[in-house]
Amino acid sequence: MTADDTLTTPTNVLGSTSFTQSRIQPTAVEAPAPGKPNSLGSLVRIALCTTTADFEGIAEIELLNFPGPNTHDTTVTEAGTLHLMSLAAHPFRPALLEKGFSPRLWPDYRTTVSRRQKMAADRTSIFLKASVDDEETGKERIVAMAWLTSPAAYKASQRTWIHLLKSELLHPVVDGVWNRVFDQADGTDFGIIDVYKKEVRRVRNNVMGDKPYFALEMFAVHPSCQGRGAGRALLQHCIGLPADQKIPMILESTAAGYPFYVTNAFKVVERGHVEYCRKSYEWPVMVWKLSTLG
Ligand SMILES: CC(C)(COP(=O)(O)OP(=O)(O)OC[C@H]1O[C@@H](n2cnc3c(N)ncnc32)[C@H](O)[C@@H]1OP(=O)(O)O)[C@@H](O)C(=O)NCCC(=O)NCCS
Repeated sequence: MTADDTLTTPTNVLGSTSFTQSRIQPTAVEAPAPGKPNSLGSLVRIALCTTTADFEGIAEIELLNFPGPNTHDTTVTEAGTLHLMSLAAHPFRPALLEKGFSPRLWPDYRTTVSRRQKMAADRTSIFLKASVDDEETGKERIVAMAWLTSPAAYKASQRTWIHLLKSELLHPVVDGVWNRVFDQADGTDFGIIDVYKKEVRRVRNNVMGDKPYFALEMFAVHPSCQGRGAGRALLQHCIGLPADQKIPMILESTAAGYPFYVTNAFKVVERGHVEYCRKSYEWPVMVWKLSTLG
């Protein structure tokens, strides 16, 4: 599948054929605040992930940034999403990271790549990569990733009785069995993911009601490139998607992401909350929208 296939199909995940296609074509982006040493902003190219190498690159960034409990933020209340979702991850990740094993050798690396590829192929998600040319080899190096869902995914969840039957009854059972029998074999705990997703759905429904929106499901910069403008460049690009359609974008923030999103005009609208194994997990839910939308 090429980027063009994805973009020109009427049912594509972007949910609109009028969508400005150049948004997710490779483009140079503007430099961030001038005068910053080591800034990557002006060197970064943003593109849709299409090849296996792309999905491998973004999976590596995902695993490095969300490796497991107690490796990042430890305050449960502030870092709820990260902490809760980290519990779902393969239990040996932190030890492997500490021992210096590349994520490409972790037991759940391949399944992470194939899960993300499947989501992109199903057109339920969009994966963007931000890359630069490696200084030594001149080859493409992926430095940041974004995972988004679009109004098309939202439309698919509109509540007709037939859809309710499929989405609330059939899919969870089929997915549940599939995940537990096949995917859970890599150590991922889908029980935790189900609990988290249910709360995410509740809050998003509460905040957005029937209105269409984009969601930023995951966003991360390679640890070796953080603080150099790559995050900002990619986020500005992501914001272009809802901006084009004059609709908002919602996200569930980690503690590490919170100041970054505040800097980039996201506002807290609610908090997600989950009780799991007698512990409380909370996280800020933030929305970005065009100032003209009020
Ligand atoms: C949060 C994250 C995405 C930011 O990306 P980045 O490339 O490091 O950030 P940038 O260098 O582009 O910074 C952009 C702006 O945000 C601000 N910012 C970024 N991280 C910040 C932090 N921790 N505290 C305060 N401000 C921050 C910067 O000051 C900068 O503003 P400026 O250009 O006006 O100075 C990145 O650090 C990351 O991947 N963190 C771990 C994963 C994670 O938690 N992701 C969020 C999931 S919800």
